[in-house]
Amino acid sequence: MQVTLKDTQAVEKMRIAGRLAAEVLTMIEPHVQAGVTTGELNRICHDYITDEQQCIPAPLNYQPSPAQPPFPASICTSLNHVVCHGIPSDSRKLKNGDILNIDVTVIKDGYHGDTSKMFFVGKPSVLARRLVEVTQECLYLGIAEVRPGAMLGDIGHAIQRHAEGHHFSVVRELCGHGIGLGFHEPPQVLHYGRRNTGLRLEAGMTFTIEPMINAGSAEVRTLPDQWTIVTRDHKLTAQWEHTLLVTGTGCEVLTRRDEEADLNGRDSLFQTASA
Ligand code: MF3
Ligand code: CO
Ligand code: CO
Repeated sequence: MQVTLKDTQAVEKMRIAGRLAAEVLTMIEPHVQAGVTTGELNRICHDYITDEQQCIPAPLNYQPSPAQPPFPASICTSLNHVVCHGIPSDSRKLKNGDILNIDVTVIKDGYHGDTSKMFFVGKPSVLARRLVEVTQECLYLGIAEVRPGAMLGDIGHAIQRHAEGHHFSVVRELCGHGIGLGFHEPPQVLHYGRRNTGLRLEAGMTFTIEPMINAGSAEVRTLPDQWTIVTRDHKLTAQWEHTLLVTGTGCEVLTRRDEEADLNGRDSLFQTASA
């Protein structure tokens, strides 16, 4: 399958799906509290996505390969040393100091919107806060590279440079991806690399950037459930994700939340369709 360019109609549907995915993260924020389980967060998101938004939660029963069991929940919840694809469960309550990634993907009218963010439960450690902030900066620096004529390697380079400059490491085994009618379309969007290498970006491309940054070594391991990815050294990890559209002049963040309107004065990263 080749990289698809989205036409005006597809872009409009991607905008809607992106906005809906972002709204799930905003909705769930007040529920992320000490004492709650990720299973409860999953049920709240599932009901909101299906009943309020009339969307399909893309992760539920997602099975990219027959070798893997279908994913058993509607969101991914990745806690502390879990890199990604954490399965919501009722076996443990969130507690003060935890860091949690919630990854939401909704399907509306056939099109996918995919986004994730980190949440602090109570007060994070100094390291946890720094890791989460640097990882968010990695996402924004990657986004800042996105414009027609730029190359995928420019994105990876910007992310890797920032993460490693802070003595953190970039997970290599997982990457961002094209998105549209498919959950995971080409191209693969690596979070490391060299400038002026890889695919050249064109207006109409839609893809995610979703850096996974580790406090310790970059090595990861998959748990026997065949989904949960953890750091080998069990040190902390963080991830943030947006779905983007390459526009004629730069990019549009399809999953932007209201809180990101003027984050760090980086307003220009978030030009809207009309800008
Ligand atoms: N949302 C994840 C991504 O960013 C994919 C999750 S697949 C699942 O690509 F099956 F684990 F939900
Ligand atoms: Co994704
Ligand atoms: Co995602």
